[in-house]
Amino acid sequence: MNTLRAFFIGCLAFGGGLLVSVSASLPIARPLPSEIAAGIGLWRLHGCEGCHALYGQGSMYASDLTGVAVRRAPDDLRRLLTSPETVAANGRLMPPLGLAPAEAEALLAFLAWVGEQPPRDVWPPTAR
Ligand code: HEC
Repeated sequence: MNTLRAFFIGCLAFGGGLLVSVSASLPIARPLPSEIAAGIGLWRLHGCEGCHALYGQGSMYASDLTGVAVRRAPDDLRRLLTSPETVAANGRLMPPLGLAPAEAEALLAFLAWVGEQPPRDVWPPTAR
């Protein structure tokens, strides 16, 4: 009887240890910071995807914005979003969307976050 009990307790301890070690190695879904989440909402609300792409998904009418926060200075991007008629990008102007400064900040946070996701700095691909 004592042997059976010891075996049972041993199994419980082993199972518990296994559960702890497996769950410790699982990736944990972290909630997005609220400004980035707001940026995603604005990206959809203003139909950015109707003209731009991220990671090649979306429209190709204007540039793919995956790495734009790395390529362009933050102040430049800020002006581009709030008064696009003053900043040329790739020889063209973006139509004014009437974005408020707070909306531009959230969109910038979102675009910076996009640029940090893997595969970083490799999109759009260029010929070697
Ligand atoms: C009606 C089409 C259209 C929509 C909608 C649009 N854009 Fe643009 N955007 C353009 C054009 C045209 C350019 C300039 C040419 C280019 O980048 O290819 C541009 C340029 C940009 C650039 C600079 C790109 C670079 O390569 O330097 C950024 C950043 C940008 N847009 C962000 C946004 C965001 C964020 C939204 C949504 C809030 C948005 N755009 C919605 C047409 C659009």
